[in-house]
Formats: sequence, structure tokens, C-alpha cells
Amino acid sequence: MSVASMRDRDALHLAHLDALQQAYAAHLEAAGVDALWIYSGAPHQHYADDQTATFRAYGHFMHWAPLPELSHSWLLIRPGQRPLLQIHAPDDFWHLPARRPDAAWSQAFEIRLSDEMTPPPCAAKRRAVIGELDAEQAKAMGATLNPPALLAALDHGRLHKSAHEQACLIDANRAALAGHAAARQAFEGGVSELDIHLAYLAASRQREASLPYDSIVALNRHAGVLHYQHYAQTLPGERHSLLVDAGHRELGYCADITRTWAGPEAPDLFVSLIASMQTLHQRLVAACAPGVAFVALHGQMHHELAQLLVEHGVLRCSAEAAVEAGFTRAFCPHGLGHSLGIQVHDVGGRQDAAGAPLPPPTSDPALRLTRTLTPNMVVTIEPGCYVIPMLLEPLRCGAEAAQIDWALVDRLAPCGGIRLEDNVAITATGQRNLTLAADNGH
Ligand code: GLY
Ligand code: MN
Ligand code: MN
Repeated sequence: MSVASMRDRDALHLAHLDALQQAYAAHLEAAGVDALWIYSGAPHQHYADDQTATFRAYGHFMHWAPLPELSHSWLLIRPGQRPLLQIHAPDDFWHLPARRPDAAWSQAFEIRLSDEMTPPPCAAKRRAVIGELDAEQAKAMGATLNPPALLAALDHGRLHKSAHEQACLIDANRAALAGHAAARQAFEGGVSELDIHLAYLAASRQREASLPYDSIVALNRHAGVLHYQHYAQTLPGERHSLLVDAGHRELGYCADITRTWAGPEAPDLFVSLIASMQTLHQRLVAACAPGVAFVALHGQMHHELAQLLVEHGVLRCSAEAAVEAGFTRAFCPHGLGHSLGIQVHDVGGRQDAAGAPLPPPTSDPALRLTRTLTPNMVVTIEPGCYVIPMLLEPLRCGAEAAQIDWALVDRLAPCGGIRLEDNVAITATGQRNLTLAADNGH
């Protein structure tokens, strides 16, 4: 990045913090709170062990301070005053103590280094605290713990991404795409899931603990396990397919990208299905715009998936009848996408602006975003088509079995499935594909 564009990015980051300051002032006033502590959190220790799970700072803490690894630290937000960032940095010869940040964003904070884990004192009258704390701790602070209405307002505020956040998401996408290219290359070279995973990590320049979520690296039938969680070290005899769902974090912001590739042993049907899914994916991305209800877009995915399966001869009924009979929900049981940001499945997706719940339709319990799209939301668009025996076998035995060509299903089964996933920002008039923007070097 040139010095000039670094300065632009610093200015965007400071503008993000300025907007956050104003938004918090309004939310705190509405909640009747004069001062808010935000706790970054503490690592969770494994039972009867001295080792901890990988730590991630609380999302609302990271919305202010891009320090995902910083535990036992606090923000104190008081409208009209600079936010106070208390960084836990005890003298320690076992670990490298946290340092005072010197990036441009740090100018927006009053920063204190502390060897205490306790919150910075505050004399304000009406106090609240958010984060992973218990009632006793909040009581000792004289603060209301995690007030639901305030949390709903803050979650809602995370749904729309500032220019700074969108720039981070593009950077995260760029690094992830380098990983995906390396993963594809490794697959073509004929290596195991573990080696593909390691190639992804190396090319995207990250350690496993920094990933936004555990990468899914699935060869063959494993591609039909939606959140396949292992990395087999042995090489399968045949290469039908590779599905990689993997991301990267930039200043805490997550990329979430999926690609699916056909292997040398894949049947032509699978190759052709991938091509059709790519077109379907692009159409769904292009349909993203302000005013579009995400539940309706999810419905469009099912309709188009049904058409695609009819065109390929997998379904022998009309697309309408296939959706009606629930066939497409068996071929794709997950949602079209979700809000993306500091968390890969970001907050605020199933509530309205006032915090009232917006549950998914009963037909789509896994749909994580039920809002109508508005400018600056960032969502994933990730249609899928899988052969999941647990979901398809009941249809094979059911009354409508003849409407599915089981010979074709069985031909596809060794390929597991297809998922394609890009990250998309809603603009004033349509959408911007951030994954494509990253690929084009913007
Ligand atoms: N990587 C998880 C998801 O796509 O939602
Ligand atoms: Mn996703
Ligand atoms: Mn994903």
C-alpha cells in the first residue's frame, strides 16, 4: 500500500471511530446510561488443564479496538469524552506483554496500560457493562449487566459496515483468495486434505488460531458434510471434488469464501452442475439490492436450484413441485447467507431495527439473516447443492421417490457437493461483490 493510500485508510478508520462515538452516544442516551464498560473477555481454560482455548475478544470490543487477541482489557465509553482503552499488560516473562498500540486509530482513544484485570474506575451515576461477566462482577461495579435493549441496538449497529470496515473486508478477501488459489493448486497436485489446508494457511499468511472459523477442506464425499471438521492425512484413491470454505481476518473483520472444484475422476454431470451453480450464484449476487427481503432471495435460491436440478435431469418434476415437496431443502439445507463482519456469522441478522426478533421461516430454520437488505449491509451469498445421504434417503423410500433420478444422485454422491460463496456489500442502488473487488485488486 502506498503512503497516500495508507493515510486514506487511517482517515477511514478514524471516521469509523468518530461515527461509533456518535452512535454510542445516542444508544446510551436511549438506554439511560451515562457510562458503559465493554469487557474484551478472558480465555477459556480446558477442564483440569492449564491450557486455554484460542481466545477471541468480544465483538463489540473489537468494533472499537482492532485487537482480537487482547484479553482482560476494557473500554470505557462516556458520551462527550474520548473512549478509554485499558490494556491488560502485566510484567510477564512467560509471555510477551501487550504493547501500547501506535497505529493511527489509537489517537482516538485515551490509552492506559494496566497490570490489573479490574475495570478502570468510573464515577458516572448510571452505569452498564457488556461482555462475558457474571452478575456478581457487574454488581461489584455498580453496573447493569448486558441490558437487552442496549445490546439489541449495538447489534443492529454492527449490521451496517462503514467504509473502513468494508475496506478491511476486501483486504481479508484478498488474503483468503490467495489461500484458495494455493488450495486449488495443491488439489491439482494430488495431495491430502491436511496438505491442502496447510497450503491454504501458508498462502493466506496466517496461523490456524487467527482463522475466522475452522477452514472446511473437503475432498470427495466430505464435501457433502456442511461443516466438515477434519483434515485427512491420507490421499484418497480418486479425486472427484474439492470444497474449500475458508477465510481470513483483517483487523478483526472476516472473509468467508467457498470454492468447489471438480477433480479428474468427477463425472461430466458434476462438472456441468458446478458451471450451472456458478451462473446461479452470480444471478443471486446480482439480485442483492436495497429493499430485497433476504428470506425472499433465499426462496429464489431454492426455485433456481430446483430448475437447475430439473435441467440436469436429477429431478423429474416441475421446479415448483420440487420446492413444494421439499426436495431442494434436502439438496441444500443451509441458508443462502448471513451477515458478515467481526464475526463470520455476524450479529443482528434475525432482529429488526428496534430489536424485535425476526425468526426464520419454519421451512428454513438454518437461515441466519431474515432482514430486508439496506445499504452498507455486508452479506455472504452461498448457494449449495449436496448429496447428503441422511436427508436424501428418506426421499428414496418415500411416495415421491420416482420424481428423483436416483442413478444420477448415486453418480454425484462421490463428489459430495458444491458450495460457492462470495462476500457482498449492499450499495445505494445495488451491490458490490467484495470478493471480486479483492480479486481485481481494488
Ligand atoms: N464458513 C461458514 C459459513 O459459510 O457460513
Ligand atoms: Mn458463510
Ligand atoms: Mn463459508
